[in-house]
Order: sequence, then structure tokens, then C-alpha cells
Amino acid sequence: MTIFQAAILEGIPTQLPAPKTYDPEVNHAPKRKDVLSLVEKRLAVQNALRYFPKEHHAVLAPEFLSELKTFGRIYMHRFRPDYEMFARPISEYPGQCAQAKGIMLMIQNNLNPAVAQHPHELITYGGNGAVFQNWIQYLLTMKYLAEMTEEQTLVMYSGHPMGLFPSHTNAPRVVVTNGMMIPNYSQPDDWEKFNALGVTQYGQMTAGSFMYIGPQGIVHGTTITVLNALRRIAKNRADIKGKLFVTSGLGGMSGAQPKAGNIAGVISVTAEVNPKVVHTRHSQGWVDEVISDINILCDRVKQAKKTEEVVSIAYQGNVIDVWEAFDREGIKIDLGSDQTSLHNPFAGGYYPVGMSFEEANTMMAASPVEFKAAVYTSLRRHADAVNKNAKNGTYFFDYGNAFLLESSRAGADVMAINGIDFKYPSYVQDILGPLCFDYGFGPFRWVCASGDPKDLEKTDELACQVLEEMMQESPAEIQQQMADNIQWIKGAQANKLVVGSQARILYADAEGRMKIAAAFNLAIKQGLIGPVVLGRDHHDVSGTDSPYRETSNIYDGSRFTADMAIQNVIGDSFRGATWVSIHNGGGVGWGEVINGGFGMLLDGSLTADKNLNMMLHWDVNNGVARRNWARNENATFAIKRAMEAEPLLQVTLPNIVDDSILDGLKIE
Ligand SMILES: NC(=O)c1ccc[n+]([C@@H]2O[C@H](COP(=O)([O-])OP(=O)(O)OC[C@H]3O[C@@H](n4cnc5c(N)ncnc54)[C@H](O)[C@@H]3O)[C@@H](O)[C@H]2O)c1
Repeated sequence: MTIFQAAILEGIPTQLPAPKTYDPEVNHAPKRKDVLSLVEKRLAVQNALRYFPKEHHAVLAPEFLSELKTFGRIYMHRFRPDYEMFARPISEYPGQCAQAKGIMLMIQNNLNPAVAQHPHELITYGGNGAVFQNWIQYLLTMKYLAEMTEEQTLVMYSGHPMGLFPSHTNAPRVVVTNGMMIPNYSQPDDWEKFNALGVTQYGQMTAGSFMYIGPQGIVHGTTITVLNALRRIAKNRADIKGKLFVTSGLGGMSGAQPKAGNIAGVISVTAEVNPKVVHTRHSQGWVDEVISDINILCDRVKQAKKTEEVVSIAYQGNVIDVWEAFDREGIKIDLGSDQTSLHNPFAGGYYPVGMSFEEANTMMAASPVEFKAAVYTSLRRHADAVNKNAKNGTYFFDYGNAFLLESSRAGADVMAINGIDFKYPSYVQDILGPLCFDYGFGPFRWVCASGDPKDLEKTDELACQVLEEMMQESPAEIQQQMADNIQWIKGAQANKLVVGSQARILYADAEGRMKIAAAFNLAIKQGLIGPVVLGRDHHDVSGTDSPYRETSNIYDGSRFTADMAIQNVIGDSFRGATWVSIHNGGGVGWGEVINGGFGMLLDGSLTADKNLNMMLHWDVNNGVARRNWARNENATFAIKRAMEAEPLLQVTLPNIVDDSILDGLKIE
């Protein structure tokens, strides 16, 4: 047995390990708000101590209280393991079943310091997307996974492993819930409180569900979005040349925009107020040039337009300055968006115009009321500048960052004439919804559990072969999507986007996902590759009900319901998923969305073959059926095709009423 395996099997150490020192070299989570009353602080410490035998309480109680005071949370830093944190090859994990070992590998990848945003606070991405609330939950979960058999299921409540329960071979090995609240107690401040008490956590999408694969997922999704947005305004490929894309944010997800602009072949200007972030993205080669003078920027863009250059420029400064200057200078912005973090507007997500980055940081902590007012004034000015450019032909879309929602709350001029909708579409309404999700295309992904880059190369080849064969038979309606995905997978090795585990993302529809997975399972059976973990982002066709994002192109009123996401996780769990998850708040914040996902280990067996067909079919067609019922034409087209291919599928189709009948009604 290796030292690593022995440490996993030990779980909670019987001897207290030495306290850990705070490492300033590591990117740490910000101090969380002090939201607990004195009585609640006592309860938080009491809650933390229930993991330990009595003899350790006297030492740990003051230590945990001190963590609560210093960080706003009890992370139990002392128990962070000494071994290196990264996804090992599946064969190196101790355990009774391959499925549990596959899950351990995925958990360690989410906590790998090369992958995770705040690794010591167990946060994978998005500022507060947690894998666990504390290190004891990690240790206990790994021990349970190492001990479990295929006759058990591990039940996880927001990072806390409740325990192993008897089940059966084809049941999920793990069922994860994160942040599930009684709806009336699901506001952002409630999260702060219940998370500090240690009874819930914000799992984001792929953080708390162990399915994060680093930045390549974002690059692929952003490229698809920018490419398709350009297709709306350009007649053909040649017409894309010289077009100008203006946006903001070079952060976690937004940083992929300049790369996507280059792949799509345009001039892009991305404004970013934080000089450190600009430097990081520039030094990583994600953006070509940096300019911090607005006049120089205008001249540079005019020149690039003249020569139809493909270039990505970072403007170090406020995005509003760019929108206003380009309008003043008559520089036509063809495509516009925004990726400031407006899902978190008052705590660093959005920087108001007219003050320095440092001034804003001081003001948000020292004078939060004034800061909120400054954000709202700025948003009104921001929207006015966008509106002026839009009058001159800019196609503007909301990038799922709550720009339109927050601007409307600020009283900005962003509402449509009907007073209900926004003036501008969201990227899901105009692009990802109709072109991808309604047809079943979404961010399918896989991880080669051997950890061998050669396996990833082989799976890329297999996936490409499957798509090329399918494309020959594909109807005209989805030829473009198939071509984009083939182009992506062909360039995937060259793009070198693997960080952490040997993983790949690829947009595919139900048929594509099933056929690719079947090809992998066969290759495993033939001994050509090792086991493969399948999964997907929650930002997909069926897993997520999010009225301003994933389901924003649902127009029958049902976008404020969450039946689809709940049905999805239940359906996946009895069709062979290895683990399932259902969360509150992924991507857009607590209370705003219900989102779920799955993981499935392929081991080359007949059971895996049966499961992948049954589960992937449901995992996509559930959402296609619902989108069809919402009268989305492309989804009706897709679900009819699915019914032709599978006689056991029978979906209720909507009848479309003529407008003249409705117009003729006397509705009083
Ligand atoms: N890319 C995607 O696939 C995707 C999909 C859905 C939603 N989003 C949303 O996009 C937003 C951005 O995500 P992220 O991970 O990049 O967040 P992030 O916080 O890492 O990056 C946002 C950046 O915007 C900068 N910024 C804020 N205000 C500014 C201003 N006025 N002018 C210029 N720069 C400013 C910040 O300094 C920050 O670096 C989030 O709200 C996210 O939910 C992204």
C-alpha cells in the first residue's frame, strides 16, 4: 500500500495533525461577511466539532472560532492533507470498486491548485464554487469512497458525507445535493449565514459535482457563441473580416473572449479595469496587445479596420470609456457584449466609471451604500452608451452575466416597449438556445481515467470519426453545428488546453453523445484505452432551469419553473449514472437557478454500454422534449427525429394556434 493510499484509508486522523501555516503564495478566498450572531457563532463551532471525538474538542473549539473570525468560515485548515493534490491515474486509488475510484480522481482534480481558484478554501471556481465546506468533509468522503462496494450509495448533503447506504449495482455510487433550500430562505444573504453555520454550500455548477475540467470548456463555449453571433451579422465567412467586437472582462470565464475573437477572425477590444488581470491574460497569450490610452486605442482600431486585421486588444480601463469613445469617433462596433461580473455587482463584480480601481475597492468596503449608488449611476451611463452604438447598427447581446437584469434594477434604459422583455437578447435567447440547446447540442465532456495523454489523443480521434460519419447523414438544419464541432475536435490537440486531468469538451447532440460514448466503451473493451469518465457542464440542454440563462429562450411562461432540472437528475439516477448532482444557484447565484449534472464511468462492460445509451438518451431528450412543448420549433424538429429513431420514445407535441384566433379574442 502506498503512503497516499494509507492516508486516504485513514480518513479523519486519530492523532491531531500539526496546525497549518497560512501560505501567502496561494490564491485565497476573500474574507466572508461576518453575518452570524453570537448565538449562531457558538452553533457554528458546535456544528464543526461533531466530526471529532471529545478529547480533541478543547483544542479545536478555539481554533475553529478563530477561523470563523479571521475568514468568516471554518475551513479546518489543520486537516488539509500533506500529499499533493491532483488527479492520479485511476489504478492508484485504494478501493473496492472502479466507479468510486473514478469519483475520487474527479474530486482531486477539482481541488488541484493548478485547476482550483482558491484551493486551500476548497473553492474550484466562480469565487465561491465549493467542492466541500471544510477539509474533514474531504477526508471523510475519500475514506467512504475507498471503502464502499457496488452495493452501496454515498449520500452527500452540501459537501457533508451523510454516509453509505445499502443500494444496488446499477444505482448511482454517489448522490450529491448542494445548496438546496426551502425557497423562501434562498436569498444571497441566507447563503452567507447557512454556509457560515456549516450546514450548506454553494456548489456552483461543476465545482460541487466534481466535473470541472479547467478553462477549455469556456474557450469552446465562448468560441461557439462569438462565431454564431457573427453569423447573425455577416453574410459569409469573408464578410466577417474587419468586423469589430467590443466587450469587457478578462477574468475567469470572460478571459476567453479575445481568444474566441481571434479564432472567429475579428478585431476584438476587451476592456478590463484590473491591471493584474490584464497582465495575466496578456502573459498567457490569451490577448495580443494591451492599450491603456483611449485615444491610442481609437487610432489602433481604425487602422485594424482599414487592414481587416485579426487582432485582440485589451483596453486597460473602464468599458464605458470604450463604448463612449467609439461612438464619439464614429468607429462602428459590429458586435457588442459585456462580461463584468454583474451577478455580484456590489462586491467587486462591477467597477463604476470615473473612479480608479483602488478607489472603488476602498469604497465598496468602507461605504457600501454610496458604492451601490455609484454602480447604478454607472450602469445607466453604460446602457446609454450601448444604446447609442446600437442605433448605429451594433448587435448587442447579454452574456448571461445579469447585465440587463441589474441595469433594469438601476433604472437604465434597457426595457423593450412591452415593458416586460429587455431591449437586447441574451446569448441563450438568440444563439445557444435556438442553435444548440433546442437541437440537443451541449457541452458533453470526458476524462481519461488512466491519466495518459495518449488515451486523450485516441478518444479525440474516435469522437472525430463518429461526428464525420454522422455528418454525412445529418439534416441541413444541423450541418453547421456538426461542422463547428468537427473543426473544434480536430484542433483540440493543437490548442493545448488541458490543465489538470486528461479531459476534453465537445458540443454534441443526443445521438452524437451516445455514439461517441459507445465508441469509447468499445475501445476500452478492446484494450485500446483505459476507463473513461463521461460528464457534462450543467450549462446544457436539460440539466438546468435558469430563467435568465439556460432557459431564457423558453417563452410559454414555464421558464420560472424547475421541473426539468429535477426530472433530469431523477431520470439520470435510475438510468445508470455513476453519480448525480442537483444544486441551487449555479452560474447566476443562489435562488436564481436549479442546476444538475452527472458522471458516468465507462469500463468497457456490457452494463456500461446499456447504461450509456439509456442515460444519455434521456439526459438530452428530456430537455429537447420540454423545449418542444414550449413551442420552440427547432426542438420540435429534433424530438420528432428522436422519436423516429427510438420507437419507445413518445413525446407530447404542441399544437400551434393561429395568431388571428388570439387577436380576435376580447380579453378584458
Ligand atoms: N463566458 C461564459 O461562458 C459565461 C457564461 C455565462 C455567464 N457568464 C458570466 O460572465 C461574468 C464574468 O465571469 P468571469 O468568470 O469572467 O468573472 P470575473 O469576475 O473573473 O471577471 C470579470 C472581470 O470584469 C472586470 N470588470 C468589472 N467591471 C468592469 C468595468 N466596468 N470595466 C472593465 N472591466 C470590468 C473585473 O475586473 C473582472 O476581472 C459572470 O457574471 C459570469 O456568470 C459567462
